[in-house]
Amino acid sequence: MTSIKPIRKAIIPVAGLGTRMLPATKAIPKELLPVGDKPVIQHVVEEAVSAGIEEIILVTRWGKEAIENHFDVNFELEHMLTAKGKKDVLKSVSEMIPSHINVVSVRQAKALGLGHAVLCAAGLVRDEPFCVMLPDVIVIQPQNQQESDLKRMVQAWNKTGAAQIMVEPVPESQTSLYGIVDCNGANPQPGQSAAIQGMVEKPKLGTAPSNLAVIGRYLLPANIMGILKTTKPGAGGEIQLTDALDTLLQSSDMAAYCMESPTYDCGNKVGYLKANIAAGLTHPETSDELRKFLQGLQT
Ligand code: G1P
Repeated sequence: MTSIKPIRKAIIPVAGLGTRMLPATKAIPKELLPVGDKPVIQHVVEEAVSAGIEEIILVTRWGKEAIENHFDVNFELEHMLTAKGKKDVLKSVSEMIPSHINVVSVRQAKALGLGHAVLCAAGLVRDEPFCVMLPDVIVIQPQNQQESDLKRMVQAWNKTGAAQIMVEPVPESQTSLYGIVDCNGANPQPGQSAAIQGMVEKPKLGTAPSNLAVIGRYLLPANIMGILKTTKPGAGGEIQLTDALDTLLQSSDMAAYCMESPTYDCGNKVGYLKANIAAGLTHPETSDELRKFLQGLQT
């Protein structure tokens, strides 16, 4: 039996234009909009790091260099904060991610779809399994949940070597907005998994095989890259990761892991506002006052 390679790398596609968030994203990448006191992308990178990821691969495009800058050293700023003795703020920028984490990037020159974005990172992941994290989705882990959902998926990968797809039930009326998994009628509860039989990207209303939607975290074997190379454009004329995963199912096991923590889609306006409220309510500096403010609004 071949040994299961650990997941050390995460691909984060950040080449999207953020049109659903205009005008806020006219000059600022959507991934840098703040949720609470840090940008969306930092929430996602911290989730990756706490699940044991060591290398972050940003699939980016022209005009979004500020995302790479966010994870680089800002010497002038750090020098100024040191001189002024602002130790706490200095720590928040200089120790944003642990020093052993490598952040690298690759460009996606044309917007040909999520599958194509992932394929752009093939040369950087080589023969290693990897994680894909869609940066629109952030996960805010409740204090009483001990391990993150991503960490549990990594543990399941380490044990079984089966691809892991994070899912969440959505209302029937919204299934046409997502990748939907077919688990042969199984209904995994939060924190549980079920074997996947098939996957379909954005099924027409009334044709979805279940209401379990793919919500932006995937642990995948290296050979998905070879499949992506020959995957034809699908829904919306784009090269879809979901279609490549459906092909992978012919030769590999795949599990749908049902999320326990709440997720927020920061790629749309109402999801973004909800994420800010949720982040504000869990942050020790803002939670009490924000809670009082929200209670005041209800009366
Ligand atoms: C992408 C994926 C889809 C997934 C969704 C999650 O779609 O293609 O399978 O369900 O993200 O947010 P997009 O929202 O980019 O159209």
